[in-house]
Amino acid sequence: MIIKYILILITAFTYSQAFDQELYDRGKLIYEQRCTFCHKQDGTGTNAFSANLQERISFESTIKVIKYGSHNFKKKYPLGMPPLVSDPKDVYLIGAYISLGMPPAHPGKKLYKKYKCFMCHGNDGSGIEDVAPNISFFNKETLKTILTNGKKGSIGTMPNFSYLGDNGIEAVSEYIIYFDEK
Ligand code: HEC
Ligand code: HEC
Repeated sequence: MIIKYILILITAFTYSQAFDQELYDRGKLIYEQRCTFCHKQDGTGTNAFSANLQERISFESTIKVIKYGSHNFKKKYPLGMPPLVSDPKDVYLIGAYISLGMPPAHPGKKLYKKYKCFMCHGNDGSGIEDVAPNISFFNKETLKTILTNGKKGSIGTMPNFSYLGDNGIEAVSEYIIYFDEK
């Protein structure tokens, strides 16, 4: 009981340290001015027009990347990701596994191992710095990469926002990482 209470205190303390209200508020303002037009106020996006920012990555996008490879983030990952899986059934299963948030009991988990996805994206999909992005949840690293480079995928083209500068990109990323925590 006491140990549980102490753990909660430690967790609360860690989060209060990590959370920067000023940065978050600045990010919210930028988001409302520059992003709501396409992604809507709550980040759910508009069907076939922009991505849902409450989910890490859609099934369709995942399928496309696994099948054809991807080269959106040239500055951060100059070599991109090559197409690695040709069997359509395997593409489907890994795509489902990742877009569902990589649940441990999913049959796609075995294929993630078989095709060595973990070598670049890590065992839990959280990415490896300068090797490959996080594919399991949004973290600042991934968001900054997307905002700096823009992104072309199955839904359409997202312009880059490098003109916001490092501070602006940091702020709007701080805002977005809390979208899926509702
Ligand atoms: C050689 C390293 C490497 C391997 C192996 C690899 N990836 Fe990737 N992956 C990358 C890189 C680099 C990117 C970013 C590509 C870009 O610039 O668009 C990426 C991007 C992705 C994305 C899109 C992320 C986004 O934000 O758009 C998905 C999904 C993905 N990989 C899934 C997989 C799966 C599934 C496997 C195994 C079949 C795999 N990757 C194997 C390097 C790798
Ligand atoms: C002109 C419309 C438009 C605007 C404005 C826009 N986006 Fe996007 N955004 C898109 C589209 C389209 C995609 C999907 C690209 C694809 O097919 O993968 C996207 C994708 C994204 C993704 C990646 C989602 C994923 O699954 O990997 C993020 C993050 C994002 N946008 C954040 C933002 C932020 C933050 C802003 C404001 C600074 C913004 N966007 C402004 C159209 C837009």
